[in-house]
Amino acid sequence: MNLQAITTQTKIGNLIIGNRILQAPLAGYSNMPFRLACWEHGRPGLLGTEMISAKSLAFANKKNEKYLLLNKNEGPVQYQIWGTEPEYLATAAKICEDRGAAAIDINCGCPVRKVNASGSGVSIMKKPELIGKCISAMKKAVNIAVSAKIRIGPNNEIFNGVEVAKIIEDAGADFITVHGRHGKESYNMPVRYEEISKIVDSVKIPVFGNGNIVDGNTAKEMLDKTNCFGIMIGRGCMGNPWVFAKIKAEILKKQWIPPSPAEVGEVLLTNYNRLIEIMGEEPATRHIRKLACFYSKGIIGSRDFRMKVNQITDKQSFESHVKIHFT
Ligand SMILES: Cc1cc2nc3c(=O)[nH]c(=O)nc-3n(C[C@H](O)[C@H](O)[C@H](O)COP(=O)(O)O)c2cc1C
Repeated sequence: MNLQAITTQTKIGNLIIGNRILQAPLAGYSNMPFRLACWEHGRPGLLGTEMISAKSLAFANKKNEKYLLLNKNEGPVQYQIWGTEPEYLATAAKICEDRGAAAIDINCGCPVRKVNASGSGVSIMKKPELIGKCISAMKKAVNIAVSAKIRIGPNNEIFNGVEVAKIIEDAGADFITVHGRHGKESYNMPVRYEEISKIVDSVKIPVFGNGNIVDGNTAKEMLDKTNCFGIMIGRGCMGNPWVFAKIKAEILKKQWIPPSPAEVGEVLLTNYNRLIEIMGEEPATRHIRKLACFYSKGIIGSRDFRMKVNQITDKQSFESHVKIHFT
């Protein structure tokens, strides 16, 4: 595997990405300000939205505005939708395309009960034919690239990632992302590289490997062990929008200078101010408290900062705590 290839510009169907290191969809986190920070400081190949219910999009539910919001300064954004009804997924995909999506993904990996109750998320992997119908409908509805994000199987009894991947390919999808765990496995379980590798070998379309990638070494491990086309980063970019740039530098054996605590604090405050602009001070303050905990990893006195920040309800106190701790 030519590791350097993942740092280069690539065309997948109608989609052109600057590199093959993607930012994962992260419900509750990957809103516009989060993605903009990733773009400005890490330049991933593709940014991912939070997952959006296809049905609620098709019914024009106003609450989806916050998920659809794009900034003209972000890079290409892949919207992710979830659902099981091909007609709603097709309508939702078209709405996303019209709103500026560079690609559209169907979530076939979410283990959350609310999503799985309707047979969506990772549960849809129990019905591979239905995934095929959903992909076909989405492909017919849009001109942008269509993908699916799957796990290696829905549970420890069914490891059908290969079967699902082939159906996804036959239905016309442009690429696949595989999170190397099954639907009942938590994050403390190891990533199953060999299962990702079987999926990579079974289809011709690009497969992106996902799970536990946080730096150049873990990126290389995924690439070496699975021969995947590219990688996707989830938790590794929470509070660390620089991770994409760091991985690129480490793969290319270039020097990587991490941001200073003051720079990290500045980026956190910029993210906060952008949140205030889109949602107002109170919800933005509630939201930034959880993101700030990720940003504070590694700073001196991070425990103290996290304890203080969790009590904060106003902008001024938040800003002063960031200025004190991020120096
Ligand atoms: C807070 C959080 C939210 C997530 N939301 C989504 C989501 O909306 N859609 C999705 O397909 N996966 C979601 N995931 C899974 C990630 O995209 C990714 O597959 C998983 O975290 C493994 O990758 P990582 O080890 O790089 O974090 C979420 C994960 C976390 C931690």
